[in-house]
Amino acid sequence: MRTEFLRSVQSAVRRSNYASSTRNFSSSASNPERKVTVLGAAGGIGQPLSMLMKLNPLVSTLSLTILLVPLVLLLIVAISILELRIVANCSHINTRDKVSGYMEDKDLAKALEGSDVVIIPAGVPRKPGMTRDDLFNINAGIVKNLCQHVAKHCPNEAGTYDPKRLFGVTTLDVVRAKTFYATKTGLSVEEVNVPVVGGHAGITILPLFSQAFPQANLGEDDIVALTKRTQDGGTEVVEAKAGKGSATLSMAYAGAIFADACLKGLNGVPDVVECSFVESNVTELPFFASKVRLGVNGVEEIHGLGSMSDYEKEGLAKLIPELKSSIQKGIDFAHKN
Ligand SMILES: NC(=O)c1ccc[n+]([C@@H]2O[C@H](COP(=O)([O-])OP(=O)(O)OC[C@H]3O[C@@H](n4cnc5c(N)ncnc54)[C@H](O)[C@@H]3O)[C@@H](O)[C@H]2O)c1
Repeated sequence: MRTEFLRSVQSAVRRSNYASSTRNFSSSASNPERKVTVLGAAGGIGQPLSMLMKLNPLVSTLSLTILLVPLVLLLIVAISILELRIVANCSHINTRDKVSGYMEDKDLAKALEGSDVVIIPAGVPRKPGMTRDDLFNINAGIVKNLCQHVAKHCPNEAGTYDPKRLFGVTTLDVVRAKTFYATKTGLSVEEVNVPVVGGHAGITILPLFSQAFPQANLGEDDIVALTKRTQDGGTEVVEAKAGKGSATLSMAYAGAIFADACLKGLNGVPDVVECSFVESNVTELPFFASKVRLGVNGVEEIHGLGSMSDYEKEGLAKLIPELKSSIQKGIDFAHKN
């Protein structure tokens, strides 16, 4: 039973990647030791993400870090005990990786030391009426603080900026585009692939259904509706949860898929291609999401946009000014803080 379940999780991960990389998915026996650290493992995303990483045979050490916002001491102790259950819970799963749990900022050095991949699902989720932009200042501050610990305790080279190792994770947009496309066309979701380019908010998310595989004969109205649904996917979940947060399970799945691709790249698996928001010269913008090939050094190659329909070209022209101002906001934040 367990073996069958594991096999189906593994094959889901395998199928979700681009076809060219699937034949290279290897068993734990031939995989090197890899340490993965999850910062914020007790949250709505952190918990399922931690479990998915526990099931990943490429991971040999899983370091789960519960981070707390220091409000009231008693409250912190109570939450800590509750949140630490994720560590015990995860550690009982009989897969390859050893699990360790860390709870406070002072433990971060131990948690991060020797990590090959650090995943940060810590942050404040979106509430109805809030845009992704509204969240920016809060979450940028949280990520900045955690990145400083990463740079200190498991640096590639501290004090340097390596554009090949900076990825914006836009996998959730790809996951949604694949699901919605397969549902509309009746194609098997396991075989479907849809590149999504641009950014990761509203109209900056541009699914390229003209390059979807396999191709289906959809009318323009259907393409417009699928594009809009992909762009509004986050809002659809925020509204469905009515004030109780944003996408957690699908985001955890998307994060696990991207982390798996990074691990494969680090392990030297060839032709690992995912869409990601990276420093890029594919358009006039300094950062842009498109297909990238991942390897031992991070981003090994950035793919161009390929042939696009007129509707997609219009979408690209519309998203450029909006994405440009978001990028500027990020650059300004980094310079000021
Ligand atoms: N990119 C996307 O598409 C997408 C989708 C969904 C959620 N998110 C983001 O992911 C993050 C997590 O969402 P969630 O639903 O799991 O939230 P959650 O509230 O369930 O969990 C958040 C976790 O972050 C930790 N945390 C909060 N503030 C912190 C701080 N200042 N320092 C350290 N840790 C802190 C909390 O302890 C908690 O464990 C949010 O920022 C949310 O906006 C992104």
